[in-house]
Amino acid sequence: MRNFTKVGDIGTIQRALDLAWDVKINPFADKELGRDKTLLMIFFNSSLRTRLSTQRAAMNLGMNVIVLDINQGAWKLETEMGVIMDGEKPEHIMEAIPVMGTYCDIIGVRSFANLQNRVTDYSEEIINQFIRLSGKPVFSMESATRHPLQSYADIITIEEYKRVQKPKVVLTWAPHPRALPQAVANSFAEWINATDYEFVITHPQGYELSEEFTGNAKIEYDWRKAYEGAHFIYAKNWSAYSEKNYGKVLHMDRSWMVDSEKMAQTDKAFFMHCLPVRRNMIVSDDVIDSTSSIVVHQASNRVVSAQAVLREMLRTL
Ligand code: CP
Repeated sequence: MRNFTKVGDIGTIQRALDLAWDVKINPFADKELGRDKTLLMIFFNSSLRTRLSTQRAAMNLGMNVIVLDINQGAWKLETEMGVIMDGEKPEHIMEAIPVMGTYCDIIGVRSFANLQNRVTDYSEEIINQFIRLSGKPVFSMESATRHPLQSYADIITIEEYKRVQKPKVVLTWAPHPRALPQAVANSFAEWINATDYEFVITHPQGYELSEEFTGNAKIEYDWRKAYEGAHFIYAKNWSAYSEKNYGKVLHMDRSWMVDSEKMAQTDKAFFMHCLPVRRNMIVSDDVIDSTSSIVVHQASNRVVSAQAVLREMLRTL
């Protein structure tokens, strides 16, 4: 695997799971694979889980790790082509990316959607520039439209907790005070659509996601119907995707918060969220503090997904 930005890059879900179980059984089996190899992690945006779990995964594989926060200590980077660089950005990505490529063997990139322009965000300009210009294998640590390492960890978690062969998995929109990208929801939909689970997406009118990602998922505007008989409730906020309202918070309808009344409609569902999560906004304290919440284990699986991906990339160097 040269690059990893979406589920198709790793193959089938079954293959992804086989790789994950292999990593889980013996996380230090490939300690020699990464010897004298360097991972460069580039963050255009903040992170707790992705930063720590990916670094831990690389260390389990014996790699060296360099982390660069573009907005803290690095030159501000110009990303537009053909501009007169008379503003506050002294370096262009046309030079910066190839230079970064000379310092490492694999590059991880986190670059969120700016939510200003749907066409620009959905063209995945930044991560594609890294793939085109770095000369090194590149993986996504959340791009404008996808968060594949998160979705991979989510699938591993569902497989570990599922009580029936084909669980009913519900992705629900939940309120949030700020405009957030659609990447986690898109990616979750893309990965779940690659399984044989029953998949329902529920959200208020106006928060429809791109059909490129929702595919054949059932879209249910009535959360009661969606929650009925669910085995997993995956909560996430996202801003509007529609052309007219792209990137906007249309409302913060608090009645969509995941609470114990909603969870009571399910078939003893587990609660999932990628974190960070705003308590009593996305989910009530009593749900996230209950035994049905598996968010910490879900986050722990980020090491497994990152290690499985890095191992495949190291094998093809
Ligand atoms: N879920 C996730 O990607 O967390 P961070 O933003 O903290 O990395």
